[in-house]
Amino acid sequence: MKQSSKADDVYATPRHVAIIMDGNGRWAQRRMLPRSHGHKAGVDALKKTVRAAREFGIEYLTLFSFSSENWSRPEGEINELFALLRLFIRRDLAELHNNNVCVRIIGSREGLPSDVLNLLVEAEILTQNNNAQTLVIAFNYGARDEIARTVKLIASKVVNDEITLDEIDPQIISDHMDTHDIPDPDMIIRTSGEKRLSNFLMWQAAYSELVFVDCLWPEFGKTDLSDCLVEYRNRSRTFGGLVKDTAS
Ligand code: FPP
Repeated sequence: MKQSSKADDVYATPRHVAIIMDGNGRWAQRRMLPRSHGHKAGVDALKKTVRAAREFGIEYLTLFSFSSENWSRPEGEINELFALLRLFIRRDLAELHNNNVCVRIIGSREGLPSDVLNLLVEAEILTQNNNAQTLVIAFNYGARDEIARTVKLIASKVVNDEITLDEIDPQIISDHMDTHDIPDPDMIIRTSGEKRLSNFLMWQAAYSELVFVDCLWPEFGKTDLSDCLVEYRNRSRTFGGLVKDTAS
């Protein structure tokens, strides 16, 4: 729950940007291609965005890559998404590591194929001391699931006398979420024109600036990210307080 920006630099580059990469399927459909082509093109957009975010000085970039609700998609599409994740880690982990990028995974580790789980753990271990940028991959992630796992974890600590009931407050809850070591997102971007959070970072999004763009995810690039940063700088962030000019 750490607010990532100090009062004076809330209009500068956001420290943490999170993205709901939506519209792969529609991108493919419009080209009469199978949905899998849309996801492949989505990975290309993902790589470009990671690079652009680094160039713009964004410290944390979180990408919603597979939601806990995506299990309801046809098996073939789920396998395709898993295959793309495997390929991404096998092919691009070395480049991320060379660029001093720390990879973090959030989401439930239950139900994932063991080789996928091993690759995710391998990526986290290899890059754990890197500090140029943190790439957070939300995989098998759903905010309600995260909150439920957090409640269970805190309850087990209460039962074991590690935490008292009175100690439970928003900070303790944040400290037990998957994102316990990651600042809250300053800005959440969703592509494809849809305007909802879809169970993404619901606890952490309390004060995030929400930016909705019309382009489909495979079309998203450096210029779009730059436009989102401009939009962010035009927002006034008060975290429940008053706008500066009206505060006196
Ligand atoms: C939404 O598009 C996107 C996803 C469900 C997954 C996002 C995945 C990627 C960008 C590629 C995978 C990358 C890794 C590293 C695993 P949609 O299919 O819901 O599009 P639609 O709303 O147009 O159907």
